[in-house]
Amino acid sequence: MFIDAKPASEGVHGILGTRNAPSLADINLMSSFFWDGREAKLEDVSILAFTNPAEMAVPDNQALVEKIKQNDKHIARFERIFDSRDINIDHVKTAMTAYLRSIPVPPTRYDRYLQSGDHSLMSEDELAGIAIFKGKADCVECHPLQGDPVHFTDNLYHHTGIGFEKVSGNVNEMMERIQDAESKGLALGTLILSDPDVAQLGRFVATRDPQDLGAFRTPSLRNIANTAPYMHDGSVLTLEEAVEYEIYYRGLSRGRPINITAEEKRQLTAFLRALDSPPSSPPL
Ligand code: HEC
Repeated sequence: MFIDAKPASEGVHGILGTRNAPSLADINLMSSFFWDGREAKLEDVSILAFTNPAEMAVPDNQALVEKIKQNDKHIARFERIFDSRDINIDHVKTAMTAYLRSIPVPPTRYDRYLQSGDHSLMSEDELAGIAIFKGKADCVECHPLQGDPVHFTDNLYHHTGIGFEKVSGNVNEMMERIQDAESKGLALGTLILSDPDVAQLGRFVATRDPQDLGAFRTPSLRNIANTAPYMHDGSVLTLEEAVEYEIYYRGLSRGRPINITAEEKRQLTAFLRALDSPPSSPPL
């Protein structure tokens, strides 16, 4: 599934980050990366975790290349592919990106139902859940059931109401922290994973557009039943609570509450549980 079960991920030195790790199983369906979309190219993203102090904490790219060169098997592999024993950081990016691109999007039961039209793959509750997801609850506004395979995300940024209220009064102070970090040449990702308040500013940190304060990229819902806890900061523990929260908050931000019975909520959640896929072993 390419995720951990922690609210925020822990780095190699036990340093706790600030963000819930997204799955890599749908990396091929993403048009920008990280919860705030601060990176646009997978090639660049592919090596960032190595040097982030809250992740793998290698001092810099040069140290990373040196580490790879210490392993004869790596040298032989790189030589075979790049026709050179002189490994450089671009080789590492190319290799990492090729691996990430090779991770298949595992078909969910819902995908198989769409492809085959075989209704027996879905229960009555799950089919009712699809109708609610598309209709009354209008979850498809941001988690569209389009694309082949279905993306379950518009890849856009929306206000979430999660976590932002804690920091909304201190935006100016945090702007100073961002500028201070920049003047010291600190990478944005290092600041975001080490400063929980700045992390709650969402897309704003990438764009500096006040409209993006507290906005996050719509996550995919693939394998959602197996990717607890939820939301960018991992603060919502169960799928039922996440659905409850989304029904409430999305109604609030539209200015018209979503009136939905307990039975319909159960059906909606049943549909989300059909977005699982049998575990596949990662390609090596
Ligand atoms: C206006 C856009 C929008 C609508 C409408 C919307 N969502 Fe979301 N959804 C999001 C965003 C953005 C997040 C990430 C929030 C965060 O991390 O703070 C999210 C997160 C989630 C999550 C948690 C995913 C994870 O991996 O952590 C679930 C589950 C979810 N939504 C289900 C629903 C359901 C069910 C509906 C319909 C009732 C719905 N959403 C409607 C944008 C939307």
